[in-house]
Formats: sequence, structure tokens, C-alpha cells
Amino acid sequence: MTTGTAPSASGTTTEVVLEADGLTKHFPVRKRGRELLSRATRSVRAVEDVTLRLHRGRVTALVGESGSGKSTVARLLAQLYPQTSGTVRLHGEPVDTKGGKRFRAYSKRVQMIFQDPFASLNPVHTVRYHLTRALKIHGNEGRTAEELERALADLLTRVQLTPPERYVDKFPHELSGGQRQRVAIARALGADPEVLLADEPVSMLDVSIRLGVLNLLRDLKERLDLAILYITHDIASARYFADETFVMYAGGVVEGGDSETVTQRPAHPYTQLLIESAPDPDRPAAEEKDGGTGEPPSLITPPPGCRFNPRCPHAMKVCVEKAPPRFALGDGEAHFAACWLYGEDLAGSDRVKLRVVEADGREEVL
Ligand SMILES: Nc1ncnc2c1ncn2[C@@H]1O[C@H](COP(=O)(O)OP(=O)(O)O)[C@@H](O)[C@H]1O
Ligand code: SF4
Ligand SMILES: [Mg+2]
Repeated sequence: MTTGTAPSASGTTTEVVLEADGLTKHFPVRKRGRELLSRATRSVRAVEDVTLRLHRGRVTALVGESGSGKSTVARLLAQLYPQTSGTVRLHGEPVDTKGGKRFRAYSKRVQMIFQDPFASLNPVHTVRYHLTRALKIHGNEGRTAEELERALADLLTRVQLTPPERYVDKFPHELSGGQRQRVAIARALGADPEVLLADEPVSMLDVSIRLGVLNLLRDLKERLDLAILYITHDIASARYFADETFVMYAGGVVEGGDSETVTQRPAHPYTQLLIESAPDPDRPAAEEKDGGTGEPPSLITPPPGCRFNPRCPHAMKVCVEKAPPRFALGDGEAHFAACWLYGEDLAGSDRVKLRVVEADGREEVL
């Protein structure tokens, strides 16, 4: 069992609610054609050895490009499918959700919010139906019709859909995208959870209403002392909204620490690339890179060593031989990078560069 507390950005200790330890997920690939004759099974190595912690009253961002494994981490944390290896712990206890009853007890404490609020709400049912169902499944509906009505009004008020009577009998198509996402959040709150896993909760919403929904989540974190995992591909929003930030690349966490340090002093070459290519209102558009150099690797046959090595301008000999461990950087709260550039004990032969990148972007392999 691990310790239940950890230092926070403010220097106080906060309780670890949910943690992933060495979490790994490989999806078997269905065989086709000639492969049917061979015994070997191939798999998509979607999540590899991910360790992270969510704290009470804090938002933790998980940032990375599409396909880096963010949703898979959230689904593993929510126990929507089993991990290949590694452990999920709730308050230090390994989670075992085999059996409907145990899963329901777990999902009462750990709720998920999905990207597309239209897809997650049933179009033939009203807001009342969705919220009542959530309250009943988790035993929070009260004992009388009045108590249920009060619980419904409370949920809608919490997500700022007021007055509640204006929204409670609406169908999803009668609401805007932002209002629908607020209903999805209210439904998650119907369980009275400790953890919210929010998988790109604003990326499908109109830019003008994203901030309102993020501010709502932040307000809920503070009022209900929730631990929130905020998944996004937008590192700028992580800086604004999250206390801590973890950066994922090709299935692994490559950097983490308090959001201010990770976004202001990014240490991992991939995080640096993400920040350079993020839209910045203070920088002329011409200076921005078009999403960085190269493509993410295959997760069926990932590159050996550091999975970023085919794209990394600093790649060294050791980078194609051994996967880098996390190195503590000591310049911010628990700031680390999984990158050999910070491995102080490397031999000179390990540090031999693999390629030189010219100023005009041309690469020369050494
Ligand atoms: N159920 C699945 N079966 C097979 N491969 C999957 C499945 N879910 C996700 N993947 C693969 O795992 C990788 C990570 O996906 P995902 O977690 O959805 O990334 P992200 O949320 O960062 O975009 C992708 O290559 C994706 O194709
Ligand atoms: S470990 Fe090597 S290849 Fe990977 S990011 Fe660091 S320098 Fe680049
Ligand atoms: Mg996703």
C-alpha cells in the first residue's frame, strides 16, 4: 500500500484519492489473412506503465495528442475494461470490480464525463429521466417524491442550470451543447462521487462556452472537494485549469509536475514541441509550428527505447536502446521527465547523438 498523502503546490498535504500504478493496456489485434495461420498475436500497446495520482480537491490534467492513450487511461481508472497489468488503488486499496455489485459500488465513487454530451444522453429521455435514474442507481433519490424533486433541483442548481424547473423536463435536443454537458456533469454528481474523470469535456463545445464549463468544474472541485482528472489535447487549458499536469506520448507519461512548471519550464522534448505548436495569442501565427515534426509511432510495433526517439531532435544512442525512467528535476513540485537528457550517470558513449537537425528543419543521420 502507498502513502495516502502527498505535498501539494501550496506546500500543504492533500489526500491521494485514486492512483494508477504501472497501469498497462494492450489490445489484441484481430488476425487477418495469413496471420490466421501464425500463432503470434499482435497487440496495440495503447498504455504502458502509467503511474499517476489524483488528489482530493485538485485537478490533474492528462495532456497529449490524439491516440496517445488518454481515454484508455480514463477507462482503466473507471474500470470500464480490465488492465493488462498494473494496479488501480482507491484510498490505497487495490480496486477489484469483478461482479456487478462491486462495480456499482466503485462507480458511485468514481464517475466519468465523456467528450460528446449528445451521444452520452439518450435523445428520447428528458433531463428528469437521466438525473432520476442516476440518483436511484446510487441510492440518492431520497424517501419521498418531494425529496427526489429537491435532489433534482439541487443537481441542476449545482451545474448552474437555473431555475431548475426551466430545464428539468427538457429533452437533450432542446438544450445547447454546453447545457447538455452540464446535464451530463449533473448526472455524474447524482452518484455523489469523490472522483470525476472528465475525458475532453469541452473539446466538442463552442469555443465561446468552453471557459464556462471549465469554470463550473473548478467550482465543483472546490465546493465538493472532488479529485478531477481533466483530459485534453490543449496544453494551454491545462495551465489555466489544472493544479498538476501529466503529459502523455504514445502510451506513456513523459513529464509531470505542477502545471505552472510543466507549462512554463517544459523539460521533455515532446512537451516542448507541444507548447511550441500550441496557439498562443501573444505570438504571430507565422511563428507557430504546424503541430510539430513527424507523426506519432505505431503502437503495434513501437520504436525501441524511448518511443519519442524517431521525432526527437536530441536523440542519443541510449534512447534507442533503453526506455528512459522518470528523472526528478528538482525545479518544481514533483517535476519529473522520462528522458535520458536528465540521466546524470550516462556514459559518454550513451550520449552520442543520432542525428543533427539543421536550422531549416533538414535532418542528418549521424
Ligand atoms: N478498444 C480498443 N481496441 C483496440 N485499440 C484501441 C481500443 N481503444 C483504443 N485503442 C487504440 O489505443 C490507442 C490509444 O487510444 P486512446 O486511448 O483513445 O487515445 P486518446 O484518447 O489519447 O486519443 C490508439 O492507437 C487506439 O487506436
Ligand atoms: S529519451 Fe532521448 S529520444 Fe527520448 S525524449 Fe529524451 S533525448 Fe529525446
Ligand atoms: Mg480520447
